[in-house]
Amino acid sequence: MTVTKKRPIGILISGRGSNMGALIAACAAADYPARIAMVISNNPDAPGLESARAAGLATKAIDHRPFGRDRAAHERAIDATLRDAGVEVVCLAGYMRLLTPFLTQAWAGRMLNIHPSLLPSFPGLHTHERALHAGVRLHGCTVHMVTEAMDEGPIIGQAAVPVLHGDTPDTLAARILTQEHLLYPAALRRVLMPDTQPQATADALLCV
Ligand code: GRF
Repeated sequence: MTVTKKRPIGILISGRGSNMGALIAACAAADYPARIAMVISNNPDAPGLESARAAGLATKAIDHRPFGRDRAAHERAIDATLRDAGVEVVCLAGYMRLLTPFLTQAWAGRMLNIHPSLLPSFPGLHTHERALHAGVRLHGCTVHMVTEAMDEGPIIGQAAVPVLHGDTPDTLAARILTQEHLLYPAALRRVLMPDTQPQATADALLCV
């Protein structure tokens, strides 16, 4: 099996970390071009931190609360931890803090986010409720580069799912989460190996 040169990535989480779990699983493959050098959470009680530790990864809780309103100081601590770990690319995976220009500029072109909607539709929170309310028939998820504006930035990849009659925000979220776990590793691979063949499924989704 080919052993690919693995680039060190950092993952920022705030909660359960299932997308982080998908990246951990992807990184376990010898031919995947990344390894996880650091997992940081702003929430010391995030269940994802425990999963990361159980997977043998370096972790650090950097609680935002002691920093009060000084978001940039919190971000400087995050930035220093990422750099000390030798991180080259950062993946936000359910990281629930708004970023200041300090962090977005420091990692411009090297920071990805996953968002549970087909951007530019439904940036922000409560995307599944809003999609159901709007009556869209296709919904999904997006991996994009992080820029200063929230949930904007160049789109790297998207996955669409049908909105089924009778869906609730929870059933829709679950259908999309399955796709998030496929999309994030594929999108990160594409960023790290831009010369590889783009992947796309041949079938279009048609929903009436
Ligand atoms: C995901 O839906 C992701 O798209 C959004 O936050 C959620 C995080 O879930 N940004 P998890 O912590 O990865 O399970």
